[in-house]
Amino acid sequence: MQRRDPDRPSGWEAYYAHHTERPISLLLGAALKRLSPQASRRQAIDLGCGSGNETRGLLEAGWDVVAIDQERAAIERVNAIRAGFPGVCLETRTQQFESLATLPAASLIHAGMSIPFCHPRHFEKFWAQVRAALLPGGLFVGQLFGNRDDWAGDPSRTFHSEAQARGLFQGLDLISFEAHEYDGPSLRGSKHWHRFDVIARRPASHA
Ligand SMILES: C[S@@+](CC[C@H](N)C(=O)[O-])C[C@H]1O[C@@H](n2cnc3c(N)ncnc32)[C@H](O)[C@@H]1O
Repeated sequence: MQRRDPDRPSGWEAYYAHHTERPISLLLGAALKRLSPQASRRQAIDLGCGSGNETRGLLEAGWDVVAIDQERAAIERVNAIRAGFPGVCLETRTQQFESLATLPAASLIHAGMSIPFCHPRHFEKFWAQVRAALLPGGLFVGQLFGNRDDWAGDPSRTFHSEAQARGLFQGLDLISFEAHEYDGPSLRGSKHWHRFDVIARRPASHA
């Protein structure tokens, strides 16, 4: 895997500009309703935070957030959000999933359309880090890409069959697992989408 230069233009800027005004995703909104206001520790991680819509929503809801993205442009956008939330605990990291060293223990881990961009050679280790960071009772919320997606031929991204995707959550409670398959727009034109939207909880009693 080639280490990305976070300052080199990547094409994600157009995505960030397109999404800037979007409210938090329906999936994260649904997940937040599942968490009790007394959730043990209100520490969240936003993996592949992009323009920071979900990071902002989490800060608004009173969470401390560690926002991670490989792109400096994304992290600059998230750092700009900080100004609207004096006193909140927001840590930003310009970091690739493939070389992630540590993650804080968290009761909410959000990964909106981001972790399939982890190189398949590094996905297993990365996913083990994500799972290990999830506190008992904590939620993982995010998307995986399915093996019938038009992009599935790209060897630098990670795709799963439905069985493989479900297998990633073994030992966690699958609160919601929705397969979506349709032809629809992307910023590079229409494509066939195949993805899994997931909300999963680590059992409270997990050792
Ligand atoms: C499709 S965007 C999603 C952004 C945001 N979560 C959202 O839902 O709008 C994917 C994000 O993941 C980041 N990303 C892609 N590959 C990555 C990698 N290997 N390591 C860290 N971040 C990555 C991109 O820079 C981009 O900001």
